[in-house]
Amino acid sequence: MKPVNIGLLGLGTVGQGVANILVRNATEIERRAGRGIHVALASVRSQGKNLAGTLGIETTNDPFDVVRNPDIDIVCEMMGGEQPAMDLIMLALEQGKHVITANKALIAIHGNEIFAAARKHGVIVAFEPAVAGGIPIIKAVREGLSANRIDWLAGIINGTGNFILSEMASKGREFSDVLAEAQALGYAEADPEFDVEGIDAAHKLTILASIAFGIPLRFDAVYTEGISKISTDDVKFATELGYRIKHLGVARRRADGIELRVHPTLIPEEQLIANVNGVMNAVLVQSDAVGATLYYGPGAGSEPTGSAVVADIVDVVRALTTDPLQRVPHLAFQYDALSDLPMLAPEDFECAYYLRLQALDKPGVMADIMSIFGKLGISIEAILQKEPIDQDAGSDITVPVILLTRSVKEGLIQNAIGQISALNSVTEDISMLRVESLN
Ligand code: HSE
Repeated sequence: MKPVNIGLLGLGTVGQGVANILVRNATEIERRAGRGIHVALASVRSQGKNLAGTLGIETTNDPFDVVRNPDIDIVCEMMGGEQPAMDLIMLALEQGKHVITANKALIAIHGNEIFAAARKHGVIVAFEPAVAGGIPIIKAVREGLSANRIDWLAGIINGTGNFILSEMASKGREFSDVLAEAQALGYAEADPEFDVEGIDAAHKLTILASIAFGIPLRFDAVYTEGISKISTDDVKFATELGYRIKHLGVARRRADGIELRVHPTLIPEEQLIANVNGVMNAVLVQSDAVGATLYYGPGAGSEPTGSAVVADIVDVVRALTTDPLQRVPHLAFQYDALSDLPMLAPEDFECAYYLRLQALDKPGVMADIMSIFGKLGISIEAILQKEPIDQDAGSDITVPVILLTRSVKEGLIQNAIGQISALNSVTEDISMLRVESLN
């Protein structure tokens, strides 16, 4: 089947992430979408030009060329700002093109109008990248929680602000210094006031509240306070009281109405969300059936946000390509694109290991054990030898020895355990636990 042609509006931080992902994961994405995806044209200002050249993407300086291009089926808007993004999106919809946008300001302020136009022209508008970067929060709330009455949600939904607060709290760094780093890392908005004063978070909260409670987008109703007035003293005193200060967006449904608010908030330090640091975002959703669910991940950055754009592209391509009843393949990949990869046996599993053994407390014992590891090529991360535990008078003194290995195949560890257990100096069965550092 012919690939679907897409057009990119903007090849800045997010646009470059999208272009890179589409090239690097082309085969995997096609297996999921059921069809190839071809970037037919991208509009650039200047910074994306080199990458566009490297990836062989045709470019234009006029974004309207992308929207008017008759070969393009899907337009991805990643320029940000109100204009010309709004005009471009409305024109794309009028021309029967599907639109994906990362533009939270536009959806929060003009979403009601944009969605009406999409319905009128029978096309899709998708906006997963607009909220919480790479976290699939729109899909989770809109689809995964559709059985629930959602009572409230609270989220750290601005990566830049959370990065600033985390660095201030953990390293005592100055506000302006951390902000400059967030800008250099591509986290911040073109106008970083949007991040710092909570406007960006208010845009995202507007969108989340609508999909949680079934209300029109009401950006005008969000109470917004930024983080610029938080001092290092506030951070310190809050910590002394057992709290962390986080810039939180809260949407709560009450009997008398809806609360929409963005402000710095003290959260008890034992709450998971209080420990979300750096550019990471998290959204905690309280619903009546499932209870509390928490969604966590990178809230900004080139490929995390690009990941959400590409997920929306795959959704649209599936809608254009497959039988509506089989639109989302049961196993995520198209049934004829599943690949029968070999399944590894336990001896081929790889991870690090914790071993606890009981050994005679006499010279040479440790050397014998280490020599077994050495001959098998197993590296040791740490060794602990503990004091003897209460022992019968007259018996040989034994001590607990704890070893942490580096990552190694399980077959080798089993071999080592067998050889070490056979030593006369090892007096009990060896305990083995697997270690996953998850980083
Ligand atoms: N400036 C935004 C943030 C980018 O820091 O969260 C992602 O929306």
